[in-house]
Amino acid sequence: MPATNVAQERVKAIYERETKRFHRDRPKSAALLNRAKRHMPNGVPCAWMEGLYFHQPIFAKRGEGACFWDADDHKYLDMNQADLSMTCGYGPKALVEVMQQRVADGSQFLLPVEDSIEVSAELANRYRLPYWQFTLSASSANMEAIRIARAFAKKEYILVFNGKYHGHIDDTMGYQNSGDDSLGFTKDFSKKTINVDFNDLAAVESALKDHPIACVLTEPALTNIGVIKPEEGFFDALRKLCDQYQSLLIIDETHTQICAWGGLSRAWNIQCDMLTLGKTVAAGIPTGTYGMTKEIGEFVASHLEAEDELDSRSMNGGLAIGGTLYGNALCMAATKVALNEILTPEAYEKSHILGNRLSTGLQRLFDKYGLTWLAQHLMGRSGYTFGPEQPSNASQLAGIAIPFYITPCAPITWR
Ligand SMILES: Cc1ncc(COP(=O)(O)O)c(C=O)c1O
Repeated sequence: MPATNVAQERVKAIYERETKRFHRDRPKSAALLNRAKRHMPNGVPCAWMEGLYFHQPIFAKRGEGACFWDADDHKYLDMNQADLSMTCGYGPKALVEVMQQRVADGSQFLLPVEDSIEVSAELANRYRLPYWQFTLSASSANMEAIRIARAFAKKEYILVFNGKYHGHIDDTMGYQNSGDDSLGFTKDFSKKTINVDFNDLAAVESALKDHPIACVLTEPALTNIGVIKPEEGFFDALRKLCDQYQSLLIIDETHTQICAWGGLSRAWNIQCDMLTLGKTVAAGIPTGTYGMTKEIGEFVASHLEAEDELDSRSMNGGLAIGGTLYGNALCMAATKVALNEILTPEAYEKSHILGNRLSTGLQRLFDKYGLTWLAQHLMGRSGYTFGPEQPSNASQLAGIAIPFYITPCAPITWR
């Protein structure tokens, strides 16, 4: 945090007092955590969850609308919506009914179900790309999109922007030439991933010139380091550069789908070749999906099969995409409900009003207390920067770091 007129000692004292109180008031969560440590590293199903917040993990019990309750019956208004995976709210009635029926009728067949036709048609209508495929998470949607891009463009490098996050996948986790020392990766895993600053078209062009780049993968606005918006004309120019160097433009709308009906790529008319989604697209039922142009869709359809049977078993020769549970009946039914009944144009309109109210309220508070901080407003997603100006790339954010999990957002299910 930059030097401001904040009394650091006072903040520290309040933080320590509140942390103590927080832990004292949650004995059931503490007991569950102790029990959980016997069979899970850190006592949580994903070891990183332990350090997600600045307090011991709390165990969630149930949720309703925009709120959830913990094991000690504390109620929380979820302003981060489980990192935007629960923007459709906890326990929406329409979803509950459909899920009950779907499980009773069979949730997975390793066969297509009719819902997949309606879902892909609606995704095509909303996100302006004609062909769709499904996975179980946004990470795997990005992984498959990159793989297809490499096969389609016949190039191996990818370009991403500093400060990005596209899931825990090797291709997007590394920083080329940074002496990356992340554990568990092969030594050279990041050598074909180029990272440049968002909004820096000269750096993009020079990377495209110097390397055989299959695709540029980016969010329409970076949302994992606060919010960084594109400068005027950035995406038009990026599109032109991608065309000039025969690189695909993949837009990751995993987070930004909550900003506008059809995502920010529709709102800002960004022309992309592929588009990836996950999180709330199926109202929190684990689902990822990616859209593609007609040309890429046809390429996928005609490049799955390996030359002979031996190759097809070893996955040599064809495009390696898909998984046993991908595109299952439960995911399809959930996505249909989310798109048709929850993520409606009216819901987005409401979230814009709430998002505006949130950022205006935050700014009023900052001004009232003389803080040189800036509230941001990106439709339903509002946040703040611990500095007076909106940064335009990750480098400018250095020194005013914002942990991703405190980016607030107006819940569309707020009543
Ligand atoms: C923009 C973006 N893409 C992809 C992902 C990966 O999502 P998941 O962890 O659900 O696979 C995230 C997760 O935060 C994300 O923010």
